[in-house]
Amino acid sequence: MQGAVLAALAGLGGTVPPVASAPAPRQVQPEAPAVILTFTGAVHGFLDVCGCPTFPLGGLARRAGQMSAFQRRWPGAAALSVDAGDFSDFPGPGGEVKTRALVEAMNEFGYRAAGIGPRDLALGPAVLAELRATARFPFLSSNLVRSATGTAWLPASHIVETGGLRIGIVAALRHDPLANWPLPDGTSLVTVDPIPAVARAMKGLAGRTDAVVLLASMPLEDARLVARRVPGIDLVIGSHGGTEMLAPVAEGTARLLYLEDEGKYLGLASFFRPTRPGARPTLQIARYALGEEVTADARWEAYTVEAMARAQQADDASRLPPPPPAESRFAGVGACAGCHLSIVEQWAKTPHAAAWKTLVRGDKRAQASCIPCHVTGHGEPGGFLDERATPHLVGVGCEACHGPAAGHLADPARPYGKTGLASCTSCHTAEMDPTFNYYQDRQRVMHGDAAP
Ligand code: HEC
Ligand code: HEC
Ligand code: HEC
Ligand code: HEC
Repeated sequence: MQGAVLAALAGLGGTVPPVASAPAPRQVQPEAPAVILTFTGAVHGFLDVCGCPTFPLGGLARRAGQMSAFQRRWPGAAALSVDAGDFSDFPGPGGEVKTRALVEAMNEFGYRAAGIGPRDLALGPAVLAELRATARFPFLSSNLVRSATGTAWLPASHIVETGGLRIGIVAALRHDPLANWPLPDGTSLVTVDPIPAVARAMKGLAGRTDAVVLLASMPLEDARLVARRVPGIDLVIGSHGGTEMLAPVAEGTARLLYLEDEGKYLGLASFFRPTRPGARPTLQIARYALGEEVTADARWEAYTVEAMARAQQADDASRLPPPPPAESRFAGVGACAGCHLSIVEQWAKTPHAAAWKTLVRGDKRAQASCIPCHVTGHGEPGGFLDERATPHLVGVGCEACHGPAAGHLADPARPYGKTGLASCTSCHTAEMDPTFNYYQDRQRVMHGDAAP
C-alpha cells in the first residue's frame, strides 16, 4: 500500500524518461531479505529538503527516518548504505561546510562505500583528502588515474561482508578525455575508459563475492555499455545530474537504477539468500521518494538546521572585504602631532578641519551622499566608516590630501605624501566647486611658514 502511494507520488517529481521495466525475478523468495542496501547518488551536498516548489523531497532527516523504517520492517536484515558519487556541493566555504556535514551524516548512517564523481573532484585535492580522512568508508574509483603514471588514485573496489553475504562494490566515473584535476605535486588526475577498468576490478573480486554492485557516476548510456560488456555485475547504481528512472532497467547480467539528484529519493536493494547452493542471491530493487509522508528524524532535523546555518555563516564571512593591508590604514590627524605639531595647529584653523562640523551644522548627517567629501578616506580600505567607528577621520584631515599614513608612521624616512591635482579634484569637483583653481587654491592649503 505504502509502496504504491510512494510510486504514485514519485511520478509527480518531473519528466520521466521512458524505460523498459526489468523482468520480475521468477524464484520463490524467502520471507525477509538477508541484506538491505540503501543507496543515494548525485546528492550535490543537499542536507535539507530540495527547494522544489511543487513537491519538495529529500533531506537528511527524512533519509534517516526512511532508513529506520526499513530496519523496523526487516529487523533481521543486515543494513548497509552506499553512495554512487557526486555527493559534494559546490566548492567554496558554504558548500564545503555542507559537504563535510553530509559525510559526517553518511558515517552515522552506516555508509560502507562511496563512488567519486566530477563534482567531488571539483572540491580540489586538499578538501577531498580531508573528507577521505573523516569518512569511515572508502572512496572508490576504478578509472581515476594519475596522468603521469596511469596508476589508480583510489581503491577500485571494496568487499562488505554482512548478513552472510559478501557484497563486492566497484566504482567508476564518466570517462572525459578533457577532464583534468590537478594534484598538489604538479601532476594531475585523469579518467580512463571505465569498461576495461571495471573488468579488471571484477577480476580482482572473482570468487570472493556473492553479488557485485557498480557505483556509476556517468550517464545512463555509458553505464549500460559497461553492464553489457562486463559480465557479473548484479546492480548498477547510477548518479548523473537529472537522470531519473521510476524502475530499474536490465542490461547484461545487471539491473540499473538511477535516482534523481539532490537526495530526493532513497534506493533500496534487498538481497535474498540464494535458494539453491551456488546460485546468486536474488535482488529486489526499488526507489522511495522522500516526501512529507516520511517521518523526519528530529535529531537529523536539528543537525540540518545547525549545519545549514554554519554554511550560511561561512558564505557570509567569505563575502566580507579582506582587512586592509597595514600600509594603507588611515591614522588620523592625532597621529601626526608628535612630529608635525605646527602643521597640525595650522591645519586645525582651516576650513578642511571644520568640514565635518559644517556638514553636521546643516544637519545633513542622514544624507549619505554628502559624507565622502567632508571626511577622510571615505570608501577606501581602512578609511572613514561612520562617526562612531572612525571618529578620528571626520573632517578633511592630513591624509585626505597626503594619503593613508600608516606606512609613513612605521618608517618616516620612506617617501610619502606628495600631493597633486588628483589630491584635490575628487572633492573639488566642477559641480561642488566651480571656481576651484588648483594653482591658486594649492597655495592656500600649503602649510606655509608652519615648520614641519
Ligand atoms: C615619528 C615622527 C613622525 C610622525 C608621527 C609623522 N611624521 Fe610625517 N614626517 C616625519 C619626518 C621625519 C619627515 C621628514 C622626512 C624628510 O624631510 O625627508 C616627515 C615628512 C612628512 C611629509 C612630507 C613628505 C615629503 O616628502 O615632502 C608629509 C606629507 C608627512 N610627513 C605627513 C605626515 C602625516 C599626515 C602624519 C600623521 C598621520 C605624519 N606625517 C606623522 C616624521 C613623522
Ligand atoms: C576629502 C575632500 C577634499 C579634499 C581631498 C580637498 N578638499 Fe578642499 N575642501 C573640502 C571641503 C568639504 C571644503 C569646505 C569645508 C568647509 O567649509 O566646511 C574644502 C575647502 C577648501 C578650501 C577653502 C575654501 C574656502 O572657501 O575657504 C580650499 C582653498 C581648498 N579646499 C583647497 C583644496 C586643495 C588645493 C586641495 C588639494 C590639495 C583640497 N582642497 C583637497 C574638501 C576637500
Ligand atoms: C564631491 C564632493 C562634495 C560633496 C558630495 C559634498 N560637498 Fe560640500 N563641499 C565640497 C567642497 C569642495 C566644498 C568647498 C567648496 C568651496 O570652497 O567653494 C564644500 C563646501 C560645503 C559647505 C560649506 C559651504 C560654504 O560656503 O562654506 C557646506 C555647508 C557643504 N559643503 C555641505 C554639503 C552638503 C549638505 C552636501 C550633501 C548634499 C555636500 N556638501 C556634499 C565638496 C562636497
Ligand atoms: C588640503 C590638502 C592638505 C591637507 C589637508 C594637509 N596637507 Fe600637508 N601639504 C599639502 C600640500 C599641497 C603640501 C605642499 C607639498 C606637496 O605638494 O606635497 C603639503 C606639504 C606638507 C608637508 C611637507 C612640508 C611642507 O610644509 O611643505 C608636511 C610635513 C605636511 N604637508 C604635513 C601635513 C599634516 C601633518 C597635515 C595634517 C595636520 C597636512 N599636511 C594636511 C596639502 C595638504
